[in-house]
Amino acid sequence: MKSLLEDQVRKSRMPARLDLLQSLSGLALALFMWVHLLLVSSILISKDAMLTVTRLLEGSLNPTEEAGYPILVKGAVVGVLLLFVLHAALAMRKFPANWKQWRTMRSHVKMMKHGDTTNWWVQAITGFVMFFLGSAHLLIMFANNDKIGPYLSSDRFVYFGLWPMYLVLLFAVELHGAIGLYRLSVKWGWFDGKDPRKNRKRLKKVKWGLTVFFLGLGLASFAAYVKIGIENQDKGRVGMPYAIEKGQDH
Ligand code: HEM
Repeated sequence: MKSLLEDQVRKSRMPARLDLLQSLSGLALALFMWVHLLLVSSILISKDAMLTVTRLLEGSLNPTEEAGYPILVKGAVVGVLLLFVLHAALAMRKFPANWKQWRTMRSHVKMMKHGDTTNWWVQAITGFVMFFLGSAHLLIMFANNDKIGPYLSSDRFVYFGLWPMYLVLLFAVELHGAIGLYRLSVKWGWFDGKDPRKNRKRLKKVKWGLTVFFLGLGLASFAAYVKIGIENQDKGRVGMPYAIEKGQDH
């Protein structure tokens, strides 16, 4: 009898535990994405800077070396992929399970026109997009872990035609990440303070500020990679890695 009761208590704690796990995996992924974009945007400083960052992530302090230990990148990709799949699986628990639930949900969104409900909807759509495009990007990175750098990355945008994927993924990631962090802060009351209503309004402004900042940074980096990719094609150096020569960008 006692064990049956214990079993039920344990089961009833399960949704809360899964919720916490969803929040923690989301937090880790959102922070990872910001750091990832800052690293990718090193191309805006110079090609040398992007190569230096790449070599550092490969565990090499010397960017003039041909390669560090690209296996480290492969390991990071596997880690992020596992977190990504865990987060998506946990989120899918909350999707409408059938057409009838979906219709009810849609009419609620329309009727209430409530920002937080609309946010849920944006999260579901961008999450869906990211699940496919994000997984594709991760698999490409897994297979090309030793082919990252100012030229080789730019070739993926232009020569391999991946620019539409990166563009859609960028918008999905930035919307999803900022809304996700906002929802986390509201859910766990991180910045409620003495006046939660007022602070929530402030939080919304911060959310938009971060979205605009990271989208701007992402689009500028996107433009830089596309420009280099086009130059690579014009100068016939597709597939050739960039090398730091006499400390000069070329
Ligand atoms: C350890 C995992 C990851 C690695 C090593 C990685 C690496 C890279 C690299 C090197 C680029 C430059 C383009 C290229 O070389 O093809 C890039 C761009 C990009 N990545 Fe990732 N990435 C990772 C995870 C993710 C995830 C999980 C997402 C989103 C779901 C993502 C979204 C993007 C986007 C949107 C861009 C384009 C950025 C822009 O145009 O400004 N990445 N990534």
